[in-house]
Amino acid sequence: MIDRQKHLLRLADWSEERILETLQRARQLKAEVQSGNHSDHFKGQSIGMFFEKPSLRTITTFQVGISQFGGFPVQLDPDSIGLGKRESIKDVARCLSRWVNALVVRCFEQELIEQLALYGDIPVINALTDSFHPCQAISFAQMFQEQYGSFEGKTIAFIGDGNNVANSLLILAAKLGMNFTLACPKGFEQKKWIVEESVDLLKKRNAKYRVVHDPKEAVLDADILYSDVWVSMGQEKDKDSKKSHFLPFQINDSLLDLAPSHCKVSHCLPAHRGEEITDSVMDGGKNLSYEEAENRLHAQKAILWDLMRPSKK
Ligand code: CP
Ligand code: NVA
Repeated sequence: MIDRQKHLLRLADWSEERILETLQRARQLKAEVQSGNHSDHFKGQSIGMFFEKPSLRTITTFQVGISQFGGFPVQLDPDSIGLGKRESIKDVARCLSRWVNALVVRCFEQELIEQLALYGDIPVINALTDSFHPCQAISFAQMFQEQYGSFEGKTIAFIGDGNNVANSLLILAAKLGMNFTLACPKGFEQKKWIVEESVDLLKKRNAKYRVVHDPKEAVLDADILYSDVWVSMGQEKDKDSKKSHFLPFQINDSLLDLAPSHCKVSHCLPAHRGEEITDSVMDGGKNLSYEEAENRLHAQKAILWDLMRPSKK
């Protein structure tokens, strides 16, 4: 059985308290970086980076963060490793556990990352799967806390596909007592089991989950609008059919004008300008995407700290 507390496989495994402690650590680490005074807590440690999908932010911020901690990121080439083809997942996980101190994984199926965690004995961090993107959600939370001060009772309106980023933001919202509205075309809602896991938590916190099919309806009470690509990595074959459904789900100036005046916007990036979000919103004064992207560095260092700090051994 997986000891789910040893890893960050999905945010549902972490308590509200642990998320808030991670955010506090992320704030402290950001201040250290800004003062040019970071400490090398993980000197001599190696961290494997296994990415089956492309990445700018996640790869760069993990590499920079690990290096700032005095550790050493090791790029693992999925083609050369041939996970499950050249060699069993079990044997790869067991060997890697003898050489590296943790594993950062971006892959298609959530099941793969769960198996690496099951068979290895080092912490595994989910750097995006088809189902979840917890590192993004924690970076969003750091940005949101900086900009808005608190979480409870605030509303995220996610305009787009009920995808991996939407799932992790929903779980984050449930843990922190935020309302979550998804505006998506019919048939592109989040999976039922993911919603069901969050609903009890949301109820306990008196927070609401809504699905609407008109983006205008979603933005009326929103504190932040969130955007992501309509077609996620790995879904390229459905590109044309998917896009036609999503055309009305664009964050543009007219949609933003319908939201309360304090409402801002974020996007996990990469953005497809002119599709799910316009140039005008991306380049406008309400866009917090780059603040969120900046925090990928600090939030992920805080996650590494949580899982690998010396007192944990
Ligand atoms: N948001 C995000 O994870 O970006 P990358 O795909 O570039 O890592
Ligand atoms: N939903 C997007 C997120 C990219 C960071 C994807 O999976 O491609």
